[in-house]
Amino acid sequence: MTPGRFISFEGGEGTGKTTQVTKLTQRLVGAGIDVVETREPGGTPAAEEIRRLLVEGDPRRWEPMSELLLHFAARREHLVKVIWPALERGQWVVSDRFADSTRAYQGYGLGIPETAIEALYDLAVGNFAPDLTVILDLPVELGLKRAKWRGDAAARYERMGQPFHERLRKGFLAIAKENPVRCRVIDATGTLEEIEAAIWHAVAKRFDLAP
Ligand code: TMP
Repeated sequence: MTPGRFISFEGGEGTGKTTQVTKLTQRLVGAGIDVVETREPGGTPAAEEIRRLLVEGDPRRWEPMSELLLHFAARREHLVKVIWPALERGQWVVSDRFADSTRAYQGYGLGIPETAIEALYDLAVGNFAPDLTVILDLPVELGLKRAKWRGDAAARYERMGQPFHERLRKGFLAIAKENPVRCRVIDATGTLEEIEAAIWHAVAKRFDLAP
């Protein structure tokens, strides 16, 4: 049995992540790979309930550390019940967001110290990380405009203000720089097709798939 692989997608609001997660999944399935497409926060019924608490309502609804704990509670459920069992079966997992979102949003965005985030990571995730992380990068103004146009009612993070979103964009780029083996930054200003092709190029190269 081939080993399962874990690919995470990351980026700010309106970067087109969700569309590209589905496109990559379809392409992997077309290459004969058994894929589980999932998302964070969420991915299990209980974690989807936690998601609702996080993405709806007033931006100041949660004290930042409480919010961090909720994200890790949802993540632990997702790992134990979906991600790890799938990888053990030899399936590939493609997740719309994972822990770099916590580092960017709750760390760079809300100002929670990295030591607190990494301590919780050790506890809830341990010695495990994505095999590949695709970071979609887009100027903040453009992303927020696209996100607004999409008109998602569950837009708590969208309403956190432009400086917050500038900090988390910088955060994602810093994370990519610190983890050059795991992360690939993809310019998300192009067309859907161009972005899809750049992602496939990165995935095929990383996992030795036919281009
Ligand atoms: P989505 O809109 O990309 O589906 O994600 C839901 C929101 O949750 C998004 O605004 C980013 C936010 N988020 C965090 O703040 N921390 C996290 O750890 C995760 C996974 C998501």
